[in-house]
Amino acid sequence: MARAIYPGSFDPMTRGHLDVARRAAAIFGEVVIAVGSNPTKRPLFTLEERLDMARRETSDLPNVRVEPFDGLLVDFVRREAPAVVLRGLRTVAEFDSEFQMSLMNRAACAEVETLFILPSAEFAFHSAHLIKELAAGGADLSPFLTPAVATRLKARMAEKEGA
Ligand code: PNS
Repeated sequence: MARAIYPGSFDPMTRGHLDVARRAAAIFGEVVIAVGSNPTKRPLFTLEERLDMARRETSDLPNVRVEPFDGLLVDFVRREAPAVVLRGLRTVAEFDSEFQMSLMNRAACAEVETLFILPSAEFAFHSAHLIKELAAGGADLSPFLTPAVATRLKARMAEKEGA
């Protein structure tokens, strides 16, 4: 049974992430959504909140499991071996950094293979970062987030404004 690890910060889980997770679940025997931390980003949601959203949003996918990870991705992949790493590739601009990350991971652990999957074209320009900017400005989030995630993001933005 082939297993794919789909890592990310999922801050929060977007419709684009869900699209990738669904596509992966149709291809692989098991998909592990690995919720971690990107050292270059400060998350808006705690790890527990991000895990909870990812679990709720994928609860209809029986072969998807959501797990936290900290430290290096390659160490998590080793613990879940045999498994490949799966990343969504949205734009050409993203290719460089994804290429670099994949080869750095391979340099750190020779057995780690990274595969890329393309999201549906309608999600190709979505990013969690830009969605947060739209949320801060009060835009309609329905094209980007499920209603449950949109509600949580709006609430978090309101808390931040009040703070
Ligand atoms: O959703 P993101 O922010 O693009 O996810 C990036 C993430 C969390 C997958 C990446 O930052 C990561 O793997 N972090 C764990 C630390 C690590 O292994 N760093 C080495 C990268 S070559």
